[in-house]
Formats: sequence, structure tokens, C-alpha cells
Amino acid sequence: MIEISGLVKKYDKVTAVDGLDLAVAGGEFFGFLGPNGAGKTTTIKVLAGLLKPTAGTARVGGHDILKEPVQAKSIIGYIPDRPFIYEKLTGREYLKFVADLYGMEPRRSRPRAERFLEFFDLAEYGDELVDGYSHGMRQKLIISGALIHEPKAVIVDEPLVGLDPKGARQVKQLFSDLCGKGVCLFMSTHSLGVAEAMCHRVGIIQKGRMIALGTVEELRLQARNARGGLEEIFLELTGDKDMQSLADSLQSPA
Ligand SMILES: Nc1ncnc2c1ncn2[C@@H]1O[C@H](COP(=O)(O)OP(=O)(O)O)[C@@H](O)[C@H]1O
Ligand SMILES: [Mg+2]
Repeated sequence: MIEISGLVKKYDKVTAVDGLDLAVAGGEFFGFLGPNGAGKTTTIKVLAGLLKPTAGTARVGGHDILKEPVQAKSIIGYIPDRPFIYEKLTGREYLKFVADLYGMEPRRSRPRAERFLEFFDLAEYGDELVDGYSHGMRQKLIISGALIHEPKAVIVDEPLVGLDPKGARQVKQLFSDLCGKGVCLFMSTHSLGVAEAMCHRVGIIQKGRMIALGTVEELRLQARNARGGLEEIFLELTGDKDMQSLADSLQSPA
């Protein structure tokens, strides 16, 4: 469903993505991991058609995101890390606005919008301005909007940041359910516990290159760490395992 081939993205001086190859199938939940600045958001923005790659291609559902942007975007649900939302719309108006952008019939979009609002406990706030929504409520509304058109590929950049435990659970359940229905989930996250529990495969990107790719079990072998959790494996593979104790160097001995 998602195919990235030889992807390179350079900003002025920085090479943010440095030759990435990856394929994620429908019904697969892929966790895209990596330290800050590794190139996750850049890759995701290329996939979503917001950034033009320096070299290489990205295809979604067989459509090249540059050559057939409309076809590709019609099957993508993109949830950005720093979403923009019109604060002077109500929650219901926002979902209607997004559905209209996708050219959906109100007959189809309206019941779907209501289902999302109910699922996320937003129905009673649906006629209030987004202006007054908390961070978590906004995030749930953004996610609802991104999924309103029944995308086949859901591309998400750190969706769980700032959600309370119930909100995080709702989002995780929704993503898992969609995956069970054949949707392709591509999610960047720093929540390694979540990635370990939910993702069929994970990839670790560092300095724009994929340094590990496979099931958590396969990464365990690669890190020669038979029992480690994903956090341990991640730190091992990224070379960030050995941390000096700051407290040791700051505190005088008792
Ligand atoms: N608009 C930009 N202009 C210049 N450099 C950028 C821009 N966006 C990201 N970068 C750089 O590209 C690299 C990858 O960033 P990013 O894709 O945001 O990483 P991640 O999402 O993994 O934290 C970083 O070195 C970052 O500073
Ligand atoms: Mg990022």
C-alpha cells in the first residue's frame, strides 16, 4: 500500500532522509521509530505529499504522490504532528468542512462524523467552537477529520503526544481496528511500549537511514539482546545506551 524507494530529502545543508526504501502492506501496522531529528517527520511529509523529495519516489496505493497527487491523497489519511485547525469552527463544522474538501456526500459523511464524535466523547461539545477545546479534544477531532473519508493508508506523526490515558487508548483501539479491516497504518512514535504492543513491524531511522527493520523479535536478534524490551533494543541499536549519570557529577557525595 505504501512504497518508498530510494527516498532522499535535502534541506539547504541538512540531508534529512538519506536513501530510504520501505514497503508497508494493507492491514499492516508499521511503527516508524527514531531519535529526534532522525528524519521521521520529513519522510511522513513526503508521503503525505507536502514536501517534494530531492530524489526517489513515494507511492500510496500504487499512485506516485508527485505524479498522481489527487488519486494518492484521496486514499491517505494524514495526521500531522503539529496540526492546524480552524478555531472559529465548531467540532461538527470542522468535520463537515473536511468531508466537503474530500467531496463526500453529506449522506455518507454526516453519520460518520457523528460516530467519531460519539466514540471520542465529543458529541456534547460538537456545537462548541474548537477555540475552547483542550489539546486532547483537538487531537481527537483532527484524527476524526483525517479518517472521515475512509482512507486506505493512515499516516500518523506522533499521535499520542498529550493525550490522557483514555484518549490514548481510544486512539490505539481505533487504529488497531482499522488495521484489522485492512487499512495500512504508518505511525511514527516515541512510545516504544505502544510500538511493541501494537506494531507488526518497526523500523528505526537514524540520521536519515533505516538502521533496523523487522519484527521486534528480529530486532532483538540484531541487537543481540535476547530478552530486552523495545526501549533497550532501541537504545542499543541507536548507540545511545550508555548514559552517564548526571546526578553523579552534580551531587556531592553524602
Ligand atoms: N524545514 C526544514 N529546514 C531545514 N532543516 C530541516 C527542516 N525540517 C527538518 N529539518 C532538519 O532535518 C532533520 C530531520 O528532521 P525531522 O524530519 O523533523 O526529524 P524527526 O521527525 O525524526 O524528529 C533534522 O536535522 C532537522 O533539523
Ligand atoms: Mg518529527
